Amino acid sequence: MERCLAPSILSADFGILKEQLGLIDEAGAQYVHFDVMDGMFVPSISFGLPVLKSIRKDTDRLIDVHLMIVDPERYVKEFAEAGADIITVHAEACKHLDATIDLIKSCGVMAGVAINPATPVSNIIHVLEKVDMVLIMTVNPGFGGQSLIPYTIDKIRELSLICREKKLKLDIEVDGGINKNTIDDVLEAGANIIVAGSAVFNGDIQNNVKNLLEKMR
Ligand code: DX5
Ligand code: ZN
Repeated sequence: MERCLAPSILSADFGILKEQLGLIDEAGAQYVHFDVMDGMFVPSISFGLPVLKSIRKDTDRLIDVHLMIVDPERYVKEFAEAGADIITVHAEACKHLDATIDLIKSCGVMAGVAINPATPVSNIIHVLEKVDMVLIMTVNPGFGGQSLIPYTIDKIRELSLICREKKLKLDIEVDGGINKNTIDDVLEAGANIIVAGSAVFNGDIQNNVKNLLEKMR
């Protein structure tokens, strides 16, 4: 599967967001990762639909919306209409995960399912055939700048093996604590969509993107 970098704008400077989106685009990042937090599923609150509509005007890159909200089916249609290309919901946040995935697809966007570090890969085994992407959280969701939890690497490897055995072509995304020191391990384990927040937006953004992309070649 093609490897893509998905800078998480949670760590961006919102006062100059348009400018920073330009920098990551120009440096070659393929996705924009958009973290929506509701203060319920995760402790913090981030941003939502109006911000998505606004950044949709400023980037042609694929916008990867990560919904960290309870009962995400309530907002799937609106996020699709606001410009999401992929909508990822947490297995732990959905009462009817299968139906929510169908809903995402019926809106004409790609569907992803995310699992928290302590959620086993086996919990999503039956929906693997219907999703475009699985997001293996490598930290507990809610905040940028945390350290990767080492046992999550085993889950990436496990999922990657299942996909090979079942001949499933789905993207494996990782999110949380990915930086120049941890990226090799997640790539080697089989991840191909790499989310990075603080490792992109702290310091020289374009150099950070280029250095991470270099490691992904
Ligand atoms: C965490 C979010 C992440 C976050 C990652 O709950 O889902 O996308 O922005 O930040 P870093 O890369 O700094 O760990
Ligand atoms: Zn995220």
